[in-house]
Amino acid sequence: MKAKVTLLPGDGIGPEIVQATRQVFDAVAAKFDHQFEYSEQLIGGIAIDETGNPLPEETLGACLESDAILLGAVGGPKWDDPAATVRPEQGLLRIRKELGAFANIRPVKVFDALAAASPLQPERVKGVDIVFVRELTGGIYFGTPRGREVRDDVRVGFDTMIYGADEVERIVRMAFDLARQRRGKVTSVDKANVLDTSRLWRAVAHEVAAEYPDVEYEDLLVDAMAMYLINRPADFDVVVTGNMFGDILSDEASMITGSLGMLPSASVGGRVGLFEPIHGSAPDIAGSGKANPLATILSGAMMLRLGLELHQEAEVIEHAVDRVLAAGHRTADIGGGAASLNTNAMTELVIAAL
Ligand code: IPM
Ligand code: MG
Repeated sequence: MKAKVTLLPGDGIGPEIVQATRQVFDAVAAKFDHQFEYSEQLIGGIAIDETGNPLPEETLGACLESDAILLGAVGGPKWDDPAATVRPEQGLLRIRKELGAFANIRPVKVFDALAAASPLQPERVKGVDIVFVRELTGGIYFGTPRGREVRDDVRVGFDTMIYGADEVERIVRMAFDLARQRRGKVTSVDKANVLDTSRLWRAVAHEVAAEYPDVEYEDLLVDAMAMYLINRPADFDVVVTGNMFGDILSDEASMITGSLGMLPSASVGGRVGLFEPIHGSAPDIAGSGKANPLATILSGAMMLRLGLELHQEAEVIEHAVDRVLAAGHRTADIGGGAASLNTNAMTELVIAAL
């Protein structure tokens, strides 16, 4: 197969982990006789520095013309001034919107070899295998009006949380379809005891649930869910929720596994999918060569499976990562200690295990 892949390294450790994943793609391409044509483009802080725009038109154009997109991370202290009107994160939010990537799929699975790295007791963590389905192009991250102004001599900031029934229906449906391919359970998370947006969400979720009598369904309030993720994480299969709750809960859930540095994600729903690790740009270790490339490599596997329909190739990458971990190899963030591998060494081991 020939495929056009846009690489968006972004900021912080982004360039290092995207480069590592590109090497894995090249090895997969050689092994399976594919041709990946790469186009590297600017996004985030580096794009602001070079063009003044966190998502330059050229980047967007390249993304829309490609078959799949791999992104590293955006943001960092350099662009963190709360008074700034142009921010790296805007580039990420806008590209998701422009791509129509309304669903963010975040698998949270405990790697047996890493269970000991979890801050939770091993018996709680055993068997955890959750997929978060986070609504990604609506809700409070996109609603208008929003802004900051002075009202009656007081500075105020405001945002709008809004969902259309159509937006809720398509994401909840995706969760049910996914549950049918898994353990057959959907948990929808909202704040229906307080928010009207959530009451609409819940009503629509129930309508969709009625069409899937074979799938077990429950609604939970987001505050309770924050608690259950810690004390009974193995009870969940597919968790569907809105943009902000999904942002927060998926970071929380990532800690169950012991490392944010292991978790991939896929942003899908439009013609071209965007694949990215769920961790951030880790500016504290950027440039040191220490970053764990595995979340991005595993995002690359999701890209091959969901973006390019290369199922076997995706599995080969995932198994290679499993084998490397099972053999005891670790980067610093997953408990490597004094024997920690750097980005390159870890990447080479994965490639050798393909
Ligand atoms: C994420 C990140 C982004 C988000 C930020 C960087 C805009 O936290 O992918 O979860 O909130 O979606
Ligand atoms: Mg987040």
